Amino acid sequence: MSALEPFSAVEIIAAKRDKAVLTNPQIDWVIDAYTRGAVADEQMSALLMAILLNGMNSQEISRWTNAMINSGEKMNWSMLDRPTVDKHSTGGVGDKITLPLAPLVAACGAAVPQLSGRGLGHTGGTLDKLEAIAGWQASLSNEKMLQVLQECGAVICAAGAGLAPADKKLYALRDVTATVEAIPLIASSIMSKKIAEGTSALVLDVKTGSGAFMSDPLKARELAQTMVGLGKDAGVKTLALVTAMDVPLGLTAGNALEVRESLEVLAGGGPADVVELTIIFAREMLELVGIKGKDPERALKDGSAMDVWRKMISAQGGNPDAPLPVAKEKLTISADASGTVLSMDAMSVGVAAWRLGAGRSRQGESVQSGAGIEIHKKPGEKIVAGEPLYTLHTDTPERFARAQEVLEGSVAIGSTDVKRLPLIVERIN
Ligand code: URA
Repeated sequence: MSALEPFSAVEIIAAKRDKAVLTNPQIDWVIDAYTRGAVADEQMSALLMAILLNGMNSQEISRWTNAMINSGEKMNWSMLDRPTVDKHSTGGVGDKITLPLAPLVAACGAAVPQLSGRGLGHTGGTLDKLEAIAGWQASLSNEKMLQVLQECGAVICAAGAGLAPADKKLYALRDVTATVEAIPLIASSIMSKKIAEGTSALVLDVKTGSGAFMSDPLKARELAQTMVGLGKDAGVKTLALVTAMDVPLGLTAGNALEVRESLEVLAGGGPADVVELTIIFAREMLELVGIKGKDPERALKDGSAMDVWRKMISAQGGNPDAPLPVAKEKLTISADASGTVLSMDAMSVGVAAWRLGAGRSRQGESVQSGAGIEIHKKPGEKIVAGEPLYTLHTDTPERFARAQEVLEGSVAIGSTDVKRLPLIVERIN
């Protein structure tokens, strides 16, 4: 320990190892010292593991979140003439809701400053999806972000390096030390970025089911409650919906395929579950910021949400009229029995899309824009043996076998009741 440092990392690790409650000054120091390099990766790894094993109380989580916010800049949108509201999803298979939702909510009168991420593992990332559009730029300066927000009412872009830098370092470390799964660490990571983003209101989509980060609904509830508490403590109007991710959302998983499906929704069509969830979230977001009398369903039908989308994509260098990339190779998988589709495992579909090239296994890897899966029948629908169930898309056909392997057994076909989670499992505010 340097003579100039007020604490020693070893002392703080030992305290959490022994199940003590960390003090505010200890938390402020350890986050700051780690961000500036005075606490080593191996020390922070030990502390993160102690937190994963022994937890943190709500006061500690709130302070930890604050310390991460204070490690960087805090954005401010008070100059806008509309209230700001954002949505965050913990991620799921085929979860493209942000794409139609941000322009839809903007078309109804709110401003949506949406900082998004890239996919890692089996869940896709919003930025990877939008990068399937020719010319579209994820990285914007703060000035450009403000300009797009003022001109279009919505902006979807990457968080800059100045926003919660402590989280960037911590998240990379958690990824390689098996400490991602701790609820205090997930909640503080997500909420530090959303609070630093400067939104006045936030609706959280906490997914549960096999394709979600929190497959257990009770854990999903705990995560949702923790994040809602953090948002409210920071003065952000926050609510969470725990939503189903036992089955993929919509009929596509993969970057360009999901953009295509989002465009169908913005054109007034699209799969029923994607449309329903988009409208539910739009209503919650508008209500949270007190915008009344606007009907998101109508804004999808009358083209006003599509107009905002086109403006927003163009403002970020994209060509909304450019054809979307299409994978070089396709392979259809057909049903091997007749009956009703009883279940479809979201995790298997997500892993298959990832194996086809839609996702990455390491940060920084590139993804194939055209790769992914089209789903032809969802749970509840009838199918006849030999009819198409999935179409796999990839530029690299050597990937088909591994994707097929994981899809084997992903679907149950029979004549009993369909068992699945309701789309909205729980509302927490
Ligand atoms: N997303 C984040 O931003 N952080 C986590 O810890 C998990 C998901």
